Amino acid sequence: MLNKLSLFPLTTTIDPSGHLTLRGHRADDLAAQFGTPLYVYDLGTIRSRIATYRRALASYPGQTHLTYASKAFLCPALARLMAAEGVGLDIASAGELFIARRGGADPADMHLHGNNKTRRDLNAALQAGVGCIVVDNATELQLLAQLAAEQQRQVNIWLRVTPDVAVETHHRYTVTGSADSKFGFPLKEAEAVAGDLLAKQQGSGGAGEQGRDFASLLLSGLHLHLGSHFHDVEPVAEGVERLLDLAVRLREKYGWEMQELCPGGGWGVPYHPSDPPMPVEPFVTELVAATALSCRRRNLPLPELTLEPGRSLVAQAGVALYTVGGRKVIPGVRTYVSIDGGLTDNPRPALYQAKYTALLANRAGEAETETVAIAGPFCESGDVLIQAVDLPVAAPGDLLAVPVAGAYQLSMSSNYNAALRPAVVFVDGKEVKLVQRRETFEDLVARDVVDES
Ligand SMILES: Cc1ncc(COP(=O)(O)O)c(C=O)c1O
Repeated sequence: MLNKLSLFPLTTTIDPSGHLTLRGHRADDLAAQFGTPLYVYDLGTIRSRIATYRRALASYPGQTHLTYASKAFLCPALARLMAAEGVGLDIASAGELFIARRGGADPADMHLHGNNKTRRDLNAALQAGVGCIVVDNATELQLLAQLAAEQQRQVNIWLRVTPDVAVETHHRYTVTGSADSKFGFPLKEAEAVAGDLLAKQQGSGGAGEQGRDFASLLLSGLHLHLGSHFHDVEPVAEGVERLLDLAVRLREKYGWEMQELCPGGGWGVPYHPSDPPMPVEPFVTELVAATALSCRRRNLPLPELTLEPGRSLVAQAGVALYTVGGRKVIPGVRTYVSIDGGLTDNPRPALYQAKYTALLANRAGEAETETVAIAGPFCESGDVLIQAVDLPVAAPGDLLAVPVAGAYQLSMSSNYNAALRPAVVFVDGKEVKLVQRRETFEDLVARDVVDES
């Protein structure tokens, strides 16, 4: 059983006057300065998570690479931080590439994912010199070969393989590695497609023009990603075994040497005091050891090992701050306490029945005497951020702090009910920096084509 405070960024405390402080900054001061809803990220917590991954990866006897799955949350300032920390980026669209480059991240240290990459995605990646394109299906392989040949570019590719290994996440929508998945090549198809590609490149496939196209693709590795928010290493190790078997078959038939291997991301984080702890270090250490052993057993040279975590790098660093409004008491049923955000900045409870906790940041020292539901202001009955949380009796104007808000919240946000997306603030030691301003009403109509007639 965890306590609420341990879910917040590192160094979060309650000061003697009962105020929640994030790395020494009072949450209510931040809310007064920037308004609510407000997303606060503690950069020290992100750096600490990066260091933990690196420490654990260091036990791998070969090369390693840490990348950040930017779909968890991306803005130029975060891309800049990752670049400064030497962390590469997993991007999933030309849009993410654009934002990452705006933050100064180097495309050569990115890899592009997506199960239906468009010409625009692929062309943008080729033109920018993205380090690796993770090919998801045979249609994409054809298209990429054609585009790379047109642009006369060599491109490094991995195949995304769906190894048909089940992993337990919090919701079926976050499972990606089982047979019934829209992502990646099933093992048999991966073998056939890779075999075909290698055969064409070696001139044994009667390729002609096509063979020349495929010459622009350099197959350097294999990739899997089982799902998001799991906390069991064994399925990932099993997925790696299956990919290594595939690598052995490709070596035997085509002399192919796998240079890179990426077992994805997906490690979970506790969101709620009832969740078990999910320490990163033992997970990575075990995965690394299992991978090295499995390679040795198959007499495979150690590939460079890339991990691409998202949530476990940034989720705990983020806190969402909301202002409490009204309450509705339904005797014998429940009490709803309303806040000024919800579904539009955090769709996870509606999408996945995700469970959160919260505390009153301006009264964090008080006894929690009632259990309430936290409701957002949007026109959906599903806009309930938390079904049940213990709090002091909340009054209008109180400040509600929701921890573990750093991943898959703002990156999945919307303007439903013409909500304005919140401001984002980075706390870096003593420094507090606004990195994304709150949207304005003008932003809401910025894309509209006005008919002046
Ligand atoms: C291909 C891929 N890699 C990595 C991740 C990151 O997952 P997580 O944020 O759970 O670590 C995702 C997200 O689902 C993904 O789709």
